[in-house]
Amino acid sequence: MNALQLDTVLLSEDRSCLEILDQTLLPGTIKVIQVSKIEDIWEAIKVLRVRGAPAIGVCAAYGIALTASRIDAADFDGFYAEFKKQKDYLASSRPTAVNLFWALNRMERVALANRALPLPELKERLFTEAQAIRDEDVAISRSIGQIGFGLLHHGDGILTHCNAGTLATAKYGTATAPMYIALENGWTDLRVYCDETRPLLQGARLTSFEMHNAGIETTLLCDNMAASMMKSGKINIVFVGCDRVARNGDAANKIGTMGVAILAKHFGIPFYVCAPSSTIDMSLASGEEIPIEQRSPEEVTEMWYQERMAPEGVKVYNPAFDVTDHSLITGIITERGLCRAPYDKAFEALGIGKE
Ligand code: MRU
Repeated sequence: MNALQLDTVLLSEDRSCLEILDQTLLPGTIKVIQVSKIEDIWEAIKVLRVRGAPAIGVCAAYGIALTASRIDAADFDGFYAEFKKQKDYLASSRPTAVNLFWALNRMERVALANRALPLPELKERLFTEAQAIRDEDVAISRSIGQIGFGLLHHGDGILTHCNAGTLATAKYGTATAPMYIALENGWTDLRVYCDETRPLLQGARLTSFEMHNAGIETTLLCDNMAASMMKSGKINIVFVGCDRVARNGDAANKIGTMGVAILAKHFGIPFYVCAPSSTIDMSLASGEEIPIEQRSPEEVTEMWYQERMAPEGVKVYNPAFDVTDHSLITGIITERGLCRAPYDKAFEALGIGKE
């Protein structure tokens, strides 16, 4: 099964529900669930049935369009009051990936811009916008892939952390897009190294599934093996995704990314962050301001184990993300171009944050 054939989230043809590939079951089970109530869409984002910053944005856009289509109101003001309430509720599902808020805010702007339309037409506009967000995401990932591909050499070993793959976007992924483009170009000699990514194992369950099934030579390693793998000389470049980038280039991504960046610097390996422009939050001066999601202790103490692997009552630290300082980043690949430090100037030059 080539993961490129899997859709992370779609609106059903009759527009009655969202069809979400349940990523909590991968790689063993490929199952699409149908969710219709906003509470179930919220839950799907919260428990990572749909995950990865761009895919969360697409899901939220479809989710608010679907919910809005059912709002029963006499006029725009009544519609908008309920729309805001539901939008805020969806926005409370996860705090770090800015694409969630970016997509919901974009949907709100469309509602406001079309306030003069009859409500049925306005609701149509929202469906159209959600579809546009999804379609744009495919193009954005391809574009990031083309730029990342330009940084690769035949025979390269590429390390990646977590899953910034097709499963985290509408298609191609961000950090994996260069590898998919390389395959399209007939390159068969790349090697991909996937960090397992404790505690939720996105690297093992998702990225190694994607890359292996795409026909790329894929090696899975526990997170604490990256240093020795880098020292062995087998890693030539690192590509990671991100959930939110501050104006100065500090980048939040899955917990453990910062450690990979520090190691890459130590071993002189280029470390690239792949970031759709929707992931760049120009309102934040630095990574200090990025909210970091804290998740439940059970993800560390018992999930995936046959029996609990920690004493009852022990304190657990389980942040879902960390922030990599911009000084550790070789470049940030956006769909508009490759940015180098100083990042605020590079982002501005590409018009990021102007829309
Ligand atoms: O908690 P997750 O699985 O949603 O975390 C995902 C990541 O950290 C990805 O690297 C990031 O969202 C970029 S996806 C293109």
